[in-house]
Amino acid sequence: MTLYSPGKGQLMIQFDAVHKRFPNGTTAVHDLTLEMPEGGVTVLVGSSGCGKTTTLRMVNRMVEPTSGTIRVGGKDVTEQDAAELRRSIGYVIQQSGLFPHRTVLDNIATVPLLLGHGRRKARARAAELLETVGLTAESGRRYPHQLSGGQQQRVGVARALAADPPVLLMDEPFGAVDPVVRTQLQDELLRLQKELNKTIVFVTHDVDEAVRLGDRIAIFRTGGHLVQCAPPTELLARPADDFVADFLGAERGLKLLSLKTLADVPQGPAPEGGTWTLVLDAANRPVHWASKDAELPVRPLQDDDSLLSALNESVASPTGLIARVDAQGVLTGVSSRDDIHTHAGRAHTEARVAA
Ligand SMILES: Nc1ncnc2c1ncn2[C@@H]1O[C@H](COP(=O)(O)OP(=O)(O)OP(=O)(O)O)[C@@H](O)[C@H]1O
Ligand SMILES: [Mg+2]
Repeated sequence: MTLYSPGKGQLMIQFDAVHKRFPNGTTAVHDLTLEMPEGGVTVLVGSSGCGKTTTLRMVNRMVEPTSGTIRVGGKDVTEQDAAELRRSIGYVIQQSGLFPHRTVLDNIATVPLLLGHGRRKARARAAELLETVGLTAESGRRYPHQLSGGQQQRVGVARALAADPPVLLMDEPFGAVDPVVRTQLQDELLRLQKELNKTIVFVTHDVDEAVRLGDRIAIFRTGGHLVQCAPPTELLARPADDFVADFLGAERGLKLLSLKTLADVPQGPAPEGGTWTLVLDAANRPVHWASKDAELPVRPLQDDDSLLSALNESVASPTGLIARVDAQGVLTGVSSRDDIHTHAGRAHTEARVAA
């Protein structure tokens, strides 16, 4: 079931002067006007209690606004049947929210079954999705508690995708896993999103996660106030106020470099005859840096690696040079710390001008 399929670039979710005050008097969301483009990832960030979850849950009517309008695909959500709306919007939460007494496969098949697909078709779809999110067919026969936290999160994502909804709401989906698994899940989501182009609303506490995943980042302040909503580069280069700057942290400048690639930094041939030599294998792949009496590791970088990794690597390199390779790992040249530095400075200037 599709709600509505607007053309690319149209607005999928629109909040217009939305206010939410709970019966106990707490204002969770204050006069929120926010637009989320179709096919993009909008990340909601802000300290605990600032209204992120409430904002998310108003999209699928698990929470009803006190005033204002929310439209999904151009239609006012209050004019749609709540149960139907909810089934057509994928929802992933931190604890994965799986049914403990159903197998992983049946967990994923839940929504297709509700939507009236036959059991066999629902299971076939579930099996497909299991693979999509990088789990083995065997894990489908297990129960949720027999999976690791990260695997359970993948199941949660698969389940949310099962009805192929145009919209996906994700509330700190990767909050409960360790940093390595978290990065893997982020990579997986980015890969999936390239294929699926869902309109995703993603809540997180983690600025790095927001910068990595977001096409746009909305920063909230306690009391449910939206402070700034902008693409990550703009946000990092020009925070609207001290609150945003503080929230982004002291390493805001470096975070910006994590969004810029190495591609435009010039490269030249590897130097010969100095104290340090870049040792290559038979296929011209860098092995290590070697001097008369020492060997130091080299971590070659590709064009799509970030300026931040390049800077990091050049600082660690004994020569200040980084080794650059193609997709096969074959050396294409080296770049100097100075050139990387110049480009880092340029990235900041450009971001400021563009913003
Ligand atoms: N059902 C409710 N009744 C009363 N107050 C509520 C209710 N749900 C949330 N609140 C309050 O509304 C405010 C916003 O809550 P919300 O869960 O949206 O915050 P959040 O940004 O998601 O926080 P966290 O980062 O801790 O998940 C908080 O002050 C919270 O205590
Ligand atoms: Mg929350």
